[in-house]
Amino acid sequence: MDRLGFLVEEVEALKEQGLYNTIRTIASAQGAWFEVDGRRVLNLCSNNYLGFADHPRLKAAAKRAIDAFGVGPGAVRSISGTQSLHLELEQRLATFKGTEATILLQAGFSANLAVLPLLVGPEDVIFSDELNHASIIDGCRLSRAKVVRYTHSDPDSLRQQLADHSQARRRLVVTDGVFSMDGDIAPLPALLEVAAEFDALTMVDDAHGEGVMGAGGRGIVDHYGLVGRIDVEVGTLSKAFGVMGGFVSGSAALIEYMKQRGRPFLFSTGLTPADTGAALEAVKILEESDEPVRRLWENTHYFRSGLKALGFDTGHSGTPIIPVMVGDARQSAELSRRLFAGRVFAQSIAFPTVPRGKARIRVMNSAVHSREDLDFALAGFEKAGRELGLI
Ligand SMILES: Cc1ncc(COP(=O)(O)O)c(C=O)c1O
Repeated sequence: MDRLGFLVEEVEALKEQGLYNTIRTIASAQGAWFEVDGRRVLNLCSNNYLGFADHPRLKAAAKRAIDAFGVGPGAVRSISGTQSLHLELEQRLATFKGTEATILLQAGFSANLAVLPLLVGPEDVIFSDELNHASIIDGCRLSRAKVVRYTHSDPDSLRQQLADHSQARRRLVVTDGVFSMDGDIAPLPALLEVAAEFDALTMVDDAHGEGVMGAGGRGIVDHYGLVGRIDVEVGTLSKAFGVMGGFVSGSAALIEYMKQRGRPFLFSTGLTPADTGAALEAVKILEESDEPVRRLWENTHYFRSGLKALGFDTGHSGTPIIPVMVGDARQSAELSRRLFAGRVFAQSIAFPTVPRGKARIRVMNSAVHSREDLDFALAGFEKAGRELGLI
C-alpha cells in the first residue's frame, strides 16, 4: 500500500488548477541575461536588485574569506562557530542601519522565526498585516501568541484591533516594509503612530527594502526618517546584498537576548565564510556610493511607465517589484510561457502565494539591465499581452 499516494493526488490537483510550480534550472550566474533550461533569456525575476550576486568585488571577497576561514564555520555559533568575520559584518550592518546592534541568521526566513517567539508568548497579541510574508506568519505561529490580522496597510484597522485587545500583556505590530508580491510600501509613520497610542512594540521585515530604499539602500526605516524608532528590524542578505543570509537589527539588549535564546541561532550553524565575506563587501560598496541604487530606481521608473503606457495594470507598486496583474492563474501562466518563448523570463505567481483570482506576472527590476534590455522586455510584454487580449 502506498501510504504517500495522497501526495501524488495533491500534485495532480495543483496541475489541474493551474497552480503547479514549474521550477526551472539555471546554468549560469545571475545577471541581466542568464541561461535557463538551456536558453539564454532576459532575467526579470531575480531579487538581484543591484547586480551584487555576480559582482567581481563580492566574488573576490568570498574567495579571500574561504582562503582565510575555510568553507564552513564548523559548529553552531554559540559553541565554536562565531568567526571574527561574523562579528565584523554584524558591526558594519548595525552602523549601516543606524541601530545599536545586529545579529546574523542563516536567512531572512530564520531571522523571523528567531525573533518573534522571543518578543511575545501566549499572553500576548501580535497585530500582523494581512499580506505579511510567510516567514512572519510562521514566526507568529511559533510564538504561540494570539495573532490578529489587520487590513493591509490600514492604520485605522490596526487601531481598531489594538483597541479590541488592549488588555494583553504585550502587543506587537509587525509588517513587511515592502510587500513582496505587490511591491507596495508599508505606511510606517502612520502605523508607528497608532502603535505608540497603545504602547505596542513595532517590527518591520525589510527584506525587499534593504539595499533598495532609503539613502544608499539603508532601508525603509531610513526612507521614512524613522531611524531608532522601530524596535525590531529584520533584513536579508539574500536579495539586494546578492548573497545568502538574514539579520535582525535593534537595541543591544534585543541582540544580546537573541544570542542567548534565539533558537535558529543556537541550534543551526551560522553563515559560511564565503557568504559573510561577500555580504561585508556588499555593505562596503553601498557605503562608498549610491550609484547602484540610483541605477536600480532609474530602471524601475522607466520599466513601470513603459508597462503602463502599454495598458497593463501594475497594481500599487512603488518599488522595483512590479506586478503585472492578470487575475486568472492559467492565463497568467500562459503569459509567462509566451514571454519565455520570446526570451523574457518573468515568473507567474498564483495562489497560495497570492490570493485566488489575483494571479500576476511579478517583474523584478535590477540595476544590471541596460535600456536595450528593458525595451526588449517591453516589446515581449506587448506581443504576448496583445495575443492574450490583456491589452
Ligand atoms: C518579506 C520577506 N521576508 C523574508 C524573506 C525570506 O528571506 P530569505 O530568502 O533571506 O530567507 C523574504 C523572501 O522571500 C521576504 O520577501
